[in-house]
Formats: sequence, C-alpha cells, structure tokens
Amino acid sequence: MLPYTRKVFDLIQDDLARFETRLARELRSQVAFIEAIGEDLTSAGGKRLRPSLAFLAGHLLGAPPEASVQVALAVELLHSASLLHDDLIDDADTRRGRDAAFRRYGNVVSVMSGDYLLAKVLGLLADADEAEFTRLMSRTAAQICEAEVLQFEMATLETFSFENYLRVIEGKTAVLFASALEGVALLAHAPERERRALQEYGMAYGRAFQLRDDYLDLLGDAERLGKPVGSDLREGKATYPVLLLLEAGDEELRAILRRHARGEDDVARVRQLVRARGADERTRERIKQEVETALGALEAFPASAPKRHLEELARQELERLT
Ligand code: IPE
Ligand code: IPE
Ligand code: MG
Ligand code: MG
Repeated sequence: MLPYTRKVFDLIQDDLARFETRLARELRSQVAFIEAIGEDLTSAGGKRLRPSLAFLAGHLLGAPPEASVQVALAVELLHSASLLHDDLIDDADTRRGRDAAFRRYGNVVSVMSGDYLLAKVLGLLADADEAEFTRLMSRTAAQICEAEVLQFEMATLETFSFENYLRVIEGKTAVLFASALEGVALLAHAPERERRALQEYGMAYGRAFQLRDDYLDLLGDAERLGKPVGSDLREGKATYPVLLLLEAGDEELRAILRRHARGEDDVARVRQLVRARGADERTRERIKQEVETALGALEAFPASAPKRHLEELARQELERLT
C-alpha cells in the first residue's frame, strides 16, 4: 500500500531548491552533534509544507522572493525546533522514518539543538527587519508552547472538551500554517483583506491537517504510517473521535483513556467503538468542513496557479482517510 504522501508543485520547485541551500547554511555549527541534527533536517525528508505555503503565498501576492524565503526559513526552523522538543516529551520512537533524535543523540542534544534553531529564527527575524512579522512569530512560538502544555494539562486533569481540543490543534499546528502565509503578506505589505484571507485559510487548513493526523494516529494503517497506531491514547490524549464518544458518556472509553490504553486490546477496542458509533464518519465530516472553510477563504483571490495549488493542498487532507 502507498504511504501517506503529499504532492509537490512545479511552480515552487526552484524556490524549494533555494530554500534547501539557505537552510543548510543556517544550520552550520562548530559543534559536531549540532551539525548532525542539522544534517537530519536537510536530509531526512520533511515535507516542507510550511515553506511551500510561504512560497505559494509569495507567488499569489507577488512578494519579493527574498521575503518568501525568509518566512519559509523562519517557519521551518520553528517547526523543526518544536518537533525536537515534541518527540522528547512524547517519548516518540521515530521521526521522519528514523529513530527520534533524542534516542540517537540524547536529551541534551535534542533540547539544546531545538533552542539553537530558535536562536537562528531570531537572526532571521532581525534580517527581515519588520516588527509586525517579529511580533507574529513571537505570538506563534508562544502559542505552540501553550498548546503543548495545555494538551498535557488536559490529559493530566482530564479536562477533555472540544473547546480545549480546538485550542490545542490551533496552537500547536494551525497558527504556524497561518504564520507561513501571513508572514509573507506582512513582508509584502499586502492589503489587510488579503492577509486576513490567508490567515483564515491557514487556520482552517491547519485544523484539518491536525484533525487528519489525529484521525490517522487512531484509525490509520500502521504499515502505511510507519509507526504503531494509538500513540495519542497511550499518552492519555483524547482526540476528536474519542471526544465524540466521551461526550456521549462512554464509560468504557473513559476507563481506557485513564489507563492510557495499557491493556493489550485497548487500542483495537477503541478503533472498534469509534467505527461502531460512527465517530470516524463524523470526524471525516469535520475535516471536510474545515477544508471547505479553507477553500472559502481563498475566494478573496482571483483564479491563478498558486491559488489552485493552495486549494489542492487543503483538499489533500480529505484523501486516504482509511
Ligand atoms: C508534523 O508535521 C507535526 C504535526 C503538526 C502533526 P509535518 O507532517 O508537516 O512534519 P514534516 O516536517 O513533514 O516531517
Ligand atoms: C506535533 O504534535 C507537534 C507540534 C506541532 C509542536 P504531535 O505530537 O501530535 O505530532 P506527531 O504525531 O508527533 O508528529
Ligand atoms: Mg508527537
Ligand atoms: Mg505531541
């Protein structure tokens, strides 16, 4: 079976190639272990989704190429830093098909390399020299941290709710998608209406993206995912389909969540319950709704190739939901 992949667009091939060169330059260090983490980032096949958003926004708005690349670098470095820290706190086994960095190099290297990447983001913000963009990235980084902690808090205090879940997926994922687009709009001094439209698209697409990621974590195919399913449950996290069942007062599910799905058949049982009660279908519906919101936001722009690609990107969240 095909792995869960995404399409790359010809329109931004050259941008992405230039991005890789610049990224490698940002990641140089005199310290071999930090260089090794940088090597991971340049060679281990991240999808470069956030840089792609920045470059597509650049084409859509006619932004100077240097503006798009600065935003692309800043968002990808912040994303990479968050993943280094996220894998450590999630005790993840793998990232991008390799053992997670903290497993290969240890916690010191993972934590400090994450901070090193954040330090590089600060340099890029200084180069971009646009206070509004710096403010945006500051807010985004703070929201990622808050969302990671809120997610942990929710699992610890069992304060499960759709409201909290939405705050988490927006904070840890959607705001960075939105910033990739909004950042370019700010540097290009695009009209307010266009900046807002891109922000709305980014938020909705980001929610769809994280909803799908969560959906696959529970209901996906382990082989195609390249990792075991049910990791969210094992961390005591209730994602959208699970919340639907909790809302309906499912006590069996609450008990499984409380024991972090430690029972041998717990994950399989939750998959079964979710399917039997139609919570899988309702989650797909929700993803569809978010994709439609994303597409609606793009109506602010006339037809063009970059607009079409942004639409295609959002629509891909509806594919391969098996
Ligand atoms: C992974 O993001 C983290 C989430 C927000 C789920 P991506 O799936 O974009 O990660 P890479 O960069 O392609 O590995
Ligand atoms: C992604 O969250 C981490 C951030 C966006 C900071 P998850 O923990 O849900 O994603 P994966 O499954 O590890 O990629
Ligand atoms: Mg994780
Ligand atoms: Mg996590």
